[in-house]
Amino acid sequence: MQALQSRAQARCLSQTRPARVSRQGLVVQAKKTADGPSIAVVGVTGAVGQEFLQVLKERNFPYKSIKLLASARSAGKQQEFEGETYTVEELTENSFNDVDIALFSAGGSISKKFGPVAQKAGSIVVDNSSAFRMTEGVPLVIPEVNPDAMSHVKIGGGGAIIANPNCSTIIALMAVTPLHRLAKVKRMIVSTYQAASGAGAAAMEELKEQTRDVLDGKEAKPVIFPYQYAFNLFSHNSGMDVEMGYNEEELKMVKETKKIWGTSDVAITATCIRVPVMRAHAESINLEFDKDISEADALAALAAFPGVSIIDDRSKNRFPTPLDATTRDDVYVGRVRRDISRSDAKGLELFVCGDQIKKGAALNAVQIAELLLK
Ligand SMILES: NC(=O)c1ccc[n+]([C@@H]2O[C@H](COP(=O)([O-])OP(=O)(O)OC[C@H]3O[C@@H](n4cnc5c(N)ncnc54)[C@H](OP(=O)(O)O)[C@@H]3O)[C@@H](O)[C@H]2O)c1
Repeated sequence: MQALQSRAQARCLSQTRPARVSRQGLVVQAKKTADGPSIAVVGVTGAVGQEFLQVLKERNFPYKSIKLLASARSAGKQQEFEGETYTVEELTENSFNDVDIALFSAGGSISKKFGPVAQKAGSIVVDNSSAFRMTEGVPLVIPEVNPDAMSHVKIGGGGAIIANPNCSTIIALMAVTPLHRLAKVKRMIVSTYQAASGAGAAAMEELKEQTRDVLDGKEAKPVIFPYQYAFNLFSHNSGMDVEMGYNEEELKMVKETKKIWGTSDVAITATCIRVPVMRAHAESINLEFDKDISEADALAALAAFPGVSIIDDRSKNRFPTPLDATTRDDVYVGRVRRDISRSDAKGLELFVCGDQIKKGAALNAVQIAELLLK
């Protein structure tokens, strides 16, 4: 175990690099090229939309042209990208006539209305909302986990919609899939600790403002969330199924995992909690497997999985934190340990942190767009 901890630490250090810098240590830029696809970013003024621009730059994504779209409120605003100044345009039915790839992050109702419009115009929509995730025929993709689900979708092959999974689902499955490939997961129990950024730019502002107000002895004024957010935590603010007692975020984790893994033969339950962290979600995950799985084998499988970094140093009580994950591409995993409530070796506990604006949204969507270039 000690040797593995050292290996894991080494891996953690080697992958802890400054944001916006490539693995080779060079600052990279997106590549404007006549051979690239024409792209559109829908919801560009939002938390995910701004991250799309950052990720396109960081990953040197090739593009012929880029169109920046938001609501009428933002039309006319100037936005810098790659040394050029673009004017944000209002999203309309005519926005997609010459767009190959449309990266959508403007909320479910906008996706429902304009996703099919873009598809009809011949664009491939990569959608961050929940609008089409469970629609039959719409691939729901984490590129490291199930890239084959979208292998039939090609640029120039007609319009299509590909869905980006829910952020908590992506972060959980980045950690659990390498273990599921070692020994089948029979049951997964997840508790999330979700950041303000998951609810958008305005929610991040609300957390800042409330924190300032409370420290100044003033009353916190909840607007986006129903409760005081600073110095507090509460059940996730998505809609509640009153009969079941589960909220939508929890049910998304259950349904989407089954679709992504292509199986209904896994039992999943989740408790999703909003915590006053600015950016990056954390998740505690308990797993039951169909056969024995050792801590060493689990750590080795996690270390070998692309997009996963391990922070697991028991001697220093050093495990993943949301700040470790903030602005980073990788999902961080630690506290990998046998479940002592079981008498067999079929149970493991993990603690996972991931930046949900990045791997949980913009990065995952740009990785999907990269698969379209192959
Ligand atoms: N935040 C996350 O971590 C995360 C993770 C996964 C998925 N998502 C999903 O991504 C979507 C956006 O989330 P966000 O956090 O980026 O929200 P946000 O910060 O509130 O941004 C919303 C964006 O949508 C645009 N918009 C709103 N109404 C519009 C309209 N009628 N026409 C065109 N654009 C419109 C806004 O433009 P204006 O500025 O002009 O209003 C803004 O650019 C949501 O579906 C969310 O569930 C978010």
